[in-house]
Amino acid sequence: MLRSSMDATVVPRTPAVESRLPKVGTTIFTVMSALAAEHGAVNLGQGFPDFDCDPALVAAVDEAMRHGLNQYPPMAGVPALREAIAAKMDALYGHRYDAGSEITVTAGATQAILSAILAVVHPGDEVIVLDPCYDSYEPNIVMAGGSAVHVPLLPGTFAPDFERIAAALSPRTRAIVVNTPHNPSATVWSQADMERLAALLRPTGVFVISDEVYEHMVYDGERHQSVARFPELAARSFVISSFGKTYHVTGWKVGYAAAPAALTNEFRKVHQFNVFTVNTPMQHGLARYMADPSHHLGLAAFYQSKRDLFRAGLDRTRLVPLPTRGTYFQCVDYSAVSDRSEEDFCRWLTTEKGVAAIPLSAFYAEPFEQRIARFCFAKKDETLALALDRLAQL
Ligand SMILES: Cc1ncc(COP(=O)(O)O)c(C=O)c1O
Repeated sequence: MLRSSMDATVVPRTPAVESRLPKVGTTIFTVMSALAAEHGAVNLGQGFPDFDCDPALVAAVDEAMRHGLNQYPPMAGVPALREAIAAKMDALYGHRYDAGSEITVTAGATQAILSAILAVVHPGDEVIVLDPCYDSYEPNIVMAGGSAVHVPLLPGTFAPDFERIAAALSPRTRAIVVNTPHNPSATVWSQADMERLAALLRPTGVFVISDEVYEHMVYDGERHQSVARFPELAARSFVISSFGKTYHVTGWKVGYAAAPAALTNEFRKVHQFNVFTVNTPMQHGLARYMADPSHHLGLAAFYQSKRDLFRAGLDRTRLVPLPTRGTYFQCVDYSAVSDRSEEDFCRWLTTEKGVAAIPLSAFYAEPFEQRIARFCFAKKDETLALALDRLAQL
């Protein structure tokens, strides 16, 4: 028989694969979460809530499913959801995106960032990223055939270093990725920062990929400085956000990108042949839930009180908290406790002291040690209390 004769003579062999992303390995987030599980540590490492979302949101999705909204939606997203996003952005940032031609619903912010990069970056192009930064940017740029040009944020304040950004601009620069509120430093860009960015890019054809997934987590009465507020920037930007962060549903992976029609047109070409569409009932449920703006407008107060609780507890420890003006992250300077490297400190903290954290060095392309670790405080108050009791022993 053909099958048995082939079995006897042919050894099945997977051809050698030349990696598109040779530098990518297991991320520190996976490593620390596995260590946390193994050692029973309180996991303040990875950025996601340990509490559930509003049951009303689940009910809205449930109702959509029961009403048969279970087939492919339009490629760009359910119109009601795109309308709700357009209305929200107009209300908050004073820029009216056209729901038909300028907003696309995506599989989380992650896919929006990738699609924006694939849409505009060509082989040989450069894209400026500001370190420390979220880990998907550089692999996305490499997938597009471009290269990342890393410009550090100013050490100490994590403010944008416009002189170094200006020096990094070249005729090959196609885009810059900005992220405010900022993961991991928990800083936010000011209006003056945005105006400086606009002035810097004015004579160029550089696009902005603006990662604003923490847009609703800005504290102490400050305003989120979306690029959408600045017409000059909005005209060259993809504004990207995530329902996962805003509504405590990181596992749903639904986000969106808003951009001028010409950019959205290219974005959708990539999106169409990448995911094509994002799941239908979630989109209907989110559209209904967005009708009540208190759900997103109340988020800052909700997380600000968690931030304050966590920081008050840190006063009982030898860790020194850095300012947190946005996001659900709290960075600490641990130099009074240890002179280990950041990664060693976080491993030790997880395995020996029972609290998982992420080393800031994991967010830099070049090794850079500042004795800073990042905690996530999107956790139940009792989870934070348990972690703080352990940290007080350091
Ligand atoms: C800065 C930043 N951008 C993007 C994302 C990804 O968002 P999503 O889960 O919607 O893909 C995250 C998630 O941690 C993030 O911190």
